[in-house]
Amino acid sequence: MKNKKLIGPIHQLVTLKGLAQKGAITDDQLEVISKGGILIEDDRILEVGQYEDLRKRSDLSEVKRVDLNQDFVAVPGFVDCHTHICFGGSRAKDFAMRNAGKSYLEIAASGGGIWDTVTQTRKLSASELAKGITERADRHLREGVTTIEVKSGYGLSTLEEIKMLTAIHKAQAKTKADLISTCLAAHMLPKDYKGTETEYLDELINRLLPLLKREKLTSRIDAFVEKSAFSPEQILPYFQKAKEMGFDLTVHADQFSSGGSEVAVKIGAVSADHLEASTEEDIQRLAKSDTIGVALPGASLGLGCDFTPARKLLDKGGSLAIATDWNPGSAPMGDLITQASILATFEKLSTAEVFAGITFRAAAALGLQDRGKLEAGQKADFILYPTSNFQEILYQQGKLKPAQVWKAGKKVPT
Ligand code: NIG
Ligand code: FE
Repeated sequence: MKNKKLIGPIHQLVTLKGLAQKGAITDDQLEVISKGGILIEDDRILEVGQYEDLRKRSDLSEVKRVDLNQDFVAVPGFVDCHTHICFGGSRAKDFAMRNAGKSYLEIAASGGGIWDTVTQTRKLSASELAKGITERADRHLREGVTTIEVKSGYGLSTLEEIKMLTAIHKAQAKTKADLISTCLAAHMLPKDYKGTETEYLDELINRLLPLLKREKLTSRIDAFVEKSAFSPEQILPYFQKAKEMGFDLTVHADQFSSGGSEVAVKIGAVSADHLEASTEEDIQRLAKSDTIGVALPGASLGLGCDFTPARKLLDKGGSLAIATDWNPGSAPMGDLITQASILATFEKLSTAEVFAGITFRAAAALGLQDRGKLEAGQKADFILYPTSNFQEILYQQGKLKPAQVWKAGKKVPT
């Protein structure tokens, strides 16, 4: 039995229909339907349009009406295409030390840094990790984030990485948000590994990647290309092999030094994320490619670093998504709409560019074309904000919270 619902009237419905995957967007390109309605069937959108028109045409015997009796603005459910929310412990001490002027090396020497999180994460079982992921994903979902990418990368051995990816699968059974997993076994050379970077990556190629394929644990591979992690020369054969095996690729690129985004374009990665240290040439190259640039303002705010040159990338014709990078080290905040609003003020992004960056452009960075716009055929993932003006969403810089979040055609309990 099909389950049809008509939701409305909605004061303003921001569809994002017709917007391009690449390049700058002005706000007058936004389609805003006044007194709109959304007709859904099961987990999909059947039609979006004028509420009165949809109401008149819908047969009451087969369409359940969900009447809204206050002013709302509807936007597509948000997509956070880069997080590390599978972890144990806290790095509050690192944060305080960094703010007190301590260097990266001093923090690492006192037991901080990525390796600290690896140690804390290894202590937890897959079920314990799944509990943490579920809590964070549910918090995100209440704030309108209906699709969340989650990376491994704090296990750093074949078995520990598999444990993390298993935890992400277990969490998927508990949260209503869609979780998209990514294997980040190439996050850094593990301190307990007795061998070189190349030997570690070869081991991942020979042991981990075939297991990921066989057990269907993930279809995405990420690596941290950076002086403190893996060089372009070291990572290219790893990515090449992963690509041959059919994985989608994404790169932690140009965070502190240039090099990673060039690798991303060369290998045909779906996204190059960070880009705070990208050169003009890097941005130019990325803009011409099909690789989506992902700005991570939460990492800039967490570390006190420059923002990704988002304006430049868009003006050169590139595609820009915005994500939280939610992790215990560099980006502990985990608030997508606050961070996207702040990036907009520093980088001068239009409302349309920000909305695109946290909806359909972010979905494309995960290889998903079925969400991120309010139009027929898309997943019925949307947010109702308690306001009559869509500009209030970014204006309130994260303080305007959703009144209702709908995921796959169902209202998320609050
Ligand atoms: O995306 N850049 C590398 N990895 C993470 C940080 C991880 C951590 O500090 O725990 C990032 O910022
Ligand atoms: Fe990251």
